[in-house]
Amino acid sequence: TGDPLLVFMPSGRRGYFPKGTPILAAARQLGVDIDSVCGGRGICGRCQVVVSEGEFAKLGVTSDTHHLSDFSSVEQRYADKRGLKPGRRLSCQAVLLGDLVIDVPADSQVHKQVVRKRAEMREIILDPVIKLHYVEVREPDMHDPTGDLQRLEEALKNQWSLEGLDCDVRAIQGLQQALRKGEWKVTVAVHMGKQITAVWPGFQEKIYGFAVDVGSTTIAGHLCDLQTGEVVASSGLMNPQIRFGEDLMSRVSYVMMNPGGDQDMTRAVREALNDLAQAVAREAGCTVEDILECTFVGNPIMHHLLLGINPIELGWAPFALATDGPVQIWASEIDLKVHPNARIYVLPCIAGHVGADTAGVILSETPYESDEMTLIVDVGTNAEIVLGNKNRLVAASSPTGPAFEGAQISCGQRAAPGAIERVRIDRETLEPRFKVIGCDLWSDHPDFAKQTEAFGVTGVCGSGIIEALAEMFLSGILTQDGVIDGAMAAKSPRIQAEGRTFLYLLHDGQPQLKITQNDIRAIQLAKAALYAGARLLMDKLGIEKVDRITLAGAFGSHIDVKYAMVLGMIPDCDLAKVTSAGNAAGTGARIALLNRGARDEIARVVKQVEKIETAVEAKFQEHFIEAMALPHKTSPYPHLAK
Ligand code: FES
Repeated sequence: TGDPLLVFMPSGRRGYFPKGTPILAAARQLGVDIDSVCGGRGICGRCQVVVSEGEFAKLGVTSDTHHLSDFSSVEQRYADKRGLKPGRRLSCQAVLLGDLVIDVPADSQVHKQVVRKRAEMREIILDPVIKLHYVEVREPDMHDPTGDLQRLEEALKNQWSLEGLDCDVRAIQGLQQALRKGEWKVTVAVHMGKQITAVWPGFQEKIYGFAVDVGSTTIAGHLCDLQTGEVVASSGLMNPQIRFGEDLMSRVSYVMMNPGGDQDMTRAVREALNDLAQAVAREAGCTVEDILECTFVGNPIMHHLLLGINPIELGWAPFALATDGPVQIWASEIDLKVHPNARIYVLPCIAGHVGADTAGVILSETPYESDEMTLIVDVGTNAEIVLGNKNRLVAASSPTGPAFEGAQISCGQRAAPGAIERVRIDRETLEPRFKVIGCDLWSDHPDFAKQTEAFGVTGVCGSGIIEALAEMFLSGILTQDGVIDGAMAAKSPRIQAEGRTFLYLLHDGQPQLKITQNDIRAIQLAKAALYAGARLLMDKLGIEKVDRITLAGAFGSHIDVKYAMVLGMIPDCDLAKVTSAGNAAGTGARIALLNRGARDEIARVVKQVEKIETAVEAKFQEHFIEAMALPHKTSPYPHLAK
């Protein structure tokens, strides 16, 4: 044709365009994904591209000379004001002059991939429910008596092909002021391509989303830039509901015994959320009004209390949820002080004991996309367990109690500086050495005392208990039945009689830290409940082994999977396939924040999950009793032998 050839990389899309065609316009015609908020006015800088330096001949491009126009005055103004890295151009300004290959960098793509830490994690493709559009609106005049909103809609239609929008009254309330302050240039936030949610004068650079995991102990929030998907600030705080009850069931009992107690707890968690929003906004250097969208996960009781629903029905059989679907509301409806028009999406719950937090874990780990039979365990006061693959998913909750969190253990404590988290016991002398949180040295290092001086050795946290017991078992102090062998007292002064049982002195300091027979029983009960729950789900699917195990939650990221298997907390599995997913529930909230399609996805998956109620399954008791032994009475652990 004589027109120059233009090739976009990495998509490889290509076409011939007349000289003078803006690169962005050509990209649009070819369906190449390039971002824009300002609609090609040289303001937003999201449309940046790079002139490729690749091998042009291979792409059919004949010449590698620079076939792009020089900087326009608009592009120069942008470069002067905001800076443009060498080689980068604004594709809305630069025009085609000859054959050319253009690279579209990842950060200029509309549906960019959000980087995640672990290789096996799912990709998050950025496609948030809220998008920004900059428009120039026609001024009103006496001869054309239309409303400001109608002229704004006209601009959105002409400049962005957005039609049939509606507008919330709260956005209309601020509209006239924004238009005049911005001299008829405004940035509009549009929700789901359908509703005008906010209007700012001039160009609004950034909007944020807030993804929160409301745990019964800790509330953790991530502030994300909704245009890049990046986490710009993270923070956590204690759930203030703890003052009403340490664990979930004691909070439900509080409601049963104190009329109105649910409202006190609702108020407490909402206040904490406001503090958390303030904290992350401060860290990111923005204000809470810049937060337009929030997503929440939490176990069913946290879910209900957050939404102002009395959780009393979750305290007794049949543990009916008020709703198991996703909940979408205005932030103002739960007194969350963010942008006045911000919305909240709460992930769906699965069953009375298996909450939106587990839905978040499922969304993050995507067992429903895999052939591998995956067991996901989220350990808290209850263990929430999911098993399955792309054909079928089953879920249950197992009453492990708080022993894994260090509660009910004589020397137990929460994970904090000074808590023992790693334990080794010499197989010959039976002498222990350990590590505490807050110090990198083992306790037998000469500098250990000095480095731990500030906090001391104060107790044993959940992962420390697991390791202590597993090491006691491996060194012969503990029998397969979980009894401290009194005969070993002759071998080491660490093993001491206590009434009719024995104990192991883990730390002879201030305070003395002892592992008693009762402590061991508490862990045995907890681990047997966890195993029995997993085993029950395996029965349901008719399988004898699992391909992969994922440990979710704070506990999962602290324990050494090898020790979890030595104790028989989890079924036998190739250790290389047992991984910790960290705060996968919170990640699920972040996915739902950044990708609107993920919301439909999880709502669909949750509906298909088969719920198993451990309390009514006779087999559960049977599995439970067998699982009291270390690692198990009858089930073999071939992977441990290796
Ligand atoms: Fe906004 Fe090019 S589209 S600067």
